[in-house]
Amino acid sequence: MDFAINVNGKTYSIDVDGDTPLLWVLRDVLGLTGTKFGCGMALCGACTVHIDGEATRSCITSVDSIGQSAVTTIEAVGETPSGKAIQKAWLDREVVQCGYCQSGQIMSASALLASNPHPTDADIDDAMSGNICRCGTYVRIREAIKLAAQSTAKGG
Ligand code: FES
Ligand code: FES
Repeated sequence: MDFAINVNGKTYSIDVDGDTPLLWVLRDVLGLTGTKFGCGMALCGACTVHIDGEATRSCITSVDSIGQSAVTTIEAVGETPSGKAIQKAWLDREVVQCGYCQSGQIMSASALLASNPHPTDADIDDAMSGNICRCGTYVRIREAIKLAAQSTAKGG
């Protein structure tokens, strides 16, 4: 079946079954491999993308459910104000260890910051609780989100 989907500001025509998970369309059809497969069951957050700005697990999102909504992936989130601030803070705080979970972490964190520029610890825990990191980078993730919130408050 033919679908037109909007990913990172471009419209792509794709020919896949409607129940194909968005994750596989991104990775296998569009070649956007920054979004990772972890569990395939909405349990780990590795596959997180934004759909109309909302953090969404692409492994359980069928391509026919997206319609004309705007999909943003890790490849383009740095072009948004919150994504840019989060990526800079990630580097400043040296968050990344093995890296596998980190695209999903950054997508969840940037969606949080876009909707809530001054998140409390509880807000951060709530937004990030579904993103698992086997390397245990949680403390640095929280610090980096706070740093990004400060930098956006200063207009940086
Ligand atoms: S791969 Fe989607 S939540 Fe784990
Ligand atoms: S940095 Fe290794 S799983 Fe998170």
